[in-house]
Amino acid sequence: MRIAFIGDLQYWKAEIENLEYKMRQVSMHKPDLAIVMGDFGGSKMRSVEGLEETKHHVDLIGCPRQAIMGNHDVEYNSEYMYDYDPVSTFREVFGKEPYSATVVDGVLILCVTIERQPLEGLRTIHAVYVSDRQYEWAREQLKKHEGMPTLLVTHAHMAGAGIRCDRPLHTSATDTYLEQTFKPERWQALTKEFPQIKAWCSAHLHMGHDYDTAITYREGVMHISCGVMTCCTRDESCNTRFVDINNGKLTVYTLDHNNDKKLIEDAVLDLNENTPPEGRYYIPQKGEILVGEDDAPTAVYRHPYLDRYYVATQKDFLWEYDGGLWDFTGTIAYERKVKSLSAESDRLYIEFADGEIRSVDPHSRKRWQYTDHINQEYIPESELKGDIMKTVPFSTFSKKEGIYVKFI
Ligand SMILES: [Fe+2]
Repeated sequence: MRIAFIGDLQYWKAEIENLEYKMRQVSMHKPDLAIVMGDFGGSKMRSVEGLEETKHHVDLIGCPRQAIMGNHDVEYNSEYMYDYDPVSTFREVFGKEPYSATVVDGVLILCVTIERQPLEGLRTIHAVYVSDRQYEWAREQLKKHEGMPTLLVTHAHMAGAGIRCDRPLHTSATDTYLEQTFKPERWQALTKEFPQIKAWCSAHLHMGHDYDTAITYREGVMHISCGVMTCCTRDESCNTRFVDINNGKLTVYTLDHNNDKKLIEDAVLDLNENTPPEGRYYIPQKGEILVGEDDAPTAVYRHPYLDRYYVATQKDFLWEYDGGLWDFTGTIAYERKVKSLSAESDRLYIEFADGEIRSVDPHSRKRWQYTDHINQEYIPESELKGDIMKTVPFSTFSKKEGIYVKFI
């Protein structure tokens, strides 16, 4: 069984992208199934025509297909307000639901779609949201297929998977990983509740496969990031991911669209053993995270009560790191120099270098600075209150992905 993962099909015009040619390149490697990872439709995104165009191109591969939706397929858009219904349009074009559970060669392929976030409490259009209903549906499928090796497929990866990304873009938009600002922790919990989840494919980041952290392995799960074949690439790569499932082994490949003759083998996982894969991948650690391609940490503060850290950078971002998630949760200060931080049990205080002091609710979705839409909700303060946060020692190291900070 060979699966081709068609990463975000965002483009300007299909003919300029030469999508027919690129689909033939995929077809040449004879996939048995194509999974379209969401964010599709090119310039006609969020329309029947856009979805029809996607379907037309993917069908050129000549194998069955399954599609899930991404954040852009469901986002609220001020141009046509909120009258576009993503699910009914998806059903109309693809004739099925945007989520599925299929057993192939003794492996459960569990495809979970992104859904539209509730309008109530909307902070930003950028969201990678999944409803409680679909989360419970996924749990039911895992229970129904108890013990069966499972490949989970979602548009965005799990928090703490350590997958490389465009850091300032996604962290500021708070849409880096699945359910960021909603319930990201429950996806880690799912992998622990169901150790049968052996591998997890995701897209959304528009980056190539030639990084150690394009594939990671955390606590028994191999996280596989899927690149893109169009101009939406963020690093000029043009890669499509292939996965073979044969005789209890899962083999991950890269198709480089600029050199399409042979698939490049990236890593192999034994689905029946609890052993790490063989090949090129990275094992993420708690307290270690990518800061950016051209940004570096200047200080790391530790919260006195919560398992949280705040990473200040040269470009004057202040990012909140959650010790449970092993990931950034959002941006407390956006391109604004912070002088010091303090905390009480129910408030976080920020003193900026220009003298302004404000406090935010450390448990609210309103504490972050989003890159658009609704501003941070804060209270102006005259002084820092509670415990002044201490900085902790940190080190840095560089990879092709950028500069990492390590503080635990
Ligand atoms: Fe996306």
